[in-house]
Amino acid sequence: MRAHESGLPDALFTDPYAADLAGEDGFRLLERYGNPGVKEFIAIRTRYLDEAVAGASGQVVLLAAGLDTRTARMPWRPGTAVYEVDRPALLEAKEKELAGLGARHGCERASVPADLTGDWPSALRAAGWNPGASTLWIAEGLLFYLPEAEARALVGRVAELAAPGDVLAGDLLSHQSMVSEFSREGLRKLTEDGCPWLFGTDRPEDFLAECGWTPVEVKCPGEPGASFGRWPWEPLPREVEGFPRNFLFTARR
Ligand SMILES: C[S@@+](CC[C@H](N)C(=O)[O-])C[C@H]1O[C@@H](n2cnc3c(N)ncnc32)[C@H](O)[C@@H]1O
Repeated sequence: MRAHESGLPDALFTDPYAADLAGEDGFRLLERYGNPGVKEFIAIRTRYLDEAVAGASGQVVLLAAGLDTRTARMPWRPGTAVYEVDRPALLEAKEKELAGLGARHGCERASVPADLTGDWPSALRAAGWNPGASTLWIAEGLLFYLPEAEARALVGRVAELAAPGDVLAGDLLSHQSMVSEFSREGLRKLTEDGCPWLFGTDRPEDFLAECGWTPVEVKCPGEPGASFGRWPWEPLPREVEGFPRNFLFTARR
C-alpha cells in the first residue's frame, strides 16, 4: 500500500523501498485486502505518524516496526536513535533486503528482535535504549493483532517504561470492526491467513487512559489533521454507532 501511494502524483510520502519489500506476495495481498478505504487509510496513517516522528530527537521506539522504512526514508536529527522491535525473522529479512537495495539509515538504527507479548523491555535495554531519556513510542498497525489483555499489558508496560512527557502515537480499531457485518469478509480472510484482528475498542480515549496515558487527540480518517486530502468521504461522526472505524491517536505520559 505504501508502494502504491508512493507512485501517486500527490503522494503523501515516498517510500522507495516499499515495492521491493512487498515483493510479489505483497502485491497479491494488496489485491486480497485492498477494499475501498484501506489504501487511503494506510496512506493517511503513514503520513500522520511520519508527522509525529518528523520532529523527534533522542530516542524513538517503533513497536512492531514491520516493513516500515522510516529509518532510511526520513531525515533525522543528528544523534537520534531508532529502535525497531519486531519478530526476529521479520527484522532479519528486512535488514537483508534493505542492505541489498543499498538503503542507508539516517539515524542510529537498532534492531530489537523480541516478542511484544514477552520480555521485550530487556531486549530494548540490551539494544542500548536509555530508560533515563525521553522517547517517542509508535504503535502502528499492531494493537488490533493482540488479544485485548495483551494489548492492555503492552500499552501499560510502555507507560511504565516511558518518561513523564513521552508521547505514544499509533492506531486502534473500533470494537465494531471485530463484529460488524461490514468487516466480516475482511476478517474471514485475515483469519484464513493466520493473522486475525483480535481487539478493538469504541472508547479509545478510555483505553489509553486506563493504560496510563493522557490522550492528546484521537481522530478518525477524514477528520481535520487525519485526511491530508486523501479521504474522499465525509467522516462518520463518532455518535453514529454500529460501524467499523479506525482511530489515529496521540497520547502523553
Ligand atoms: C501490520 S504489521 C505493521 C508493521 C508496521 N508498523 C507498519 O505499519 O508497516 C504488524 C507487525 O506486528 C508484528 N507483530 C505482531 N505481533 C507481534 C508480537 N507479538 N511481537 C512482535 N511483533 C509482532 C508483525 O511481525 C508485523 O511486523
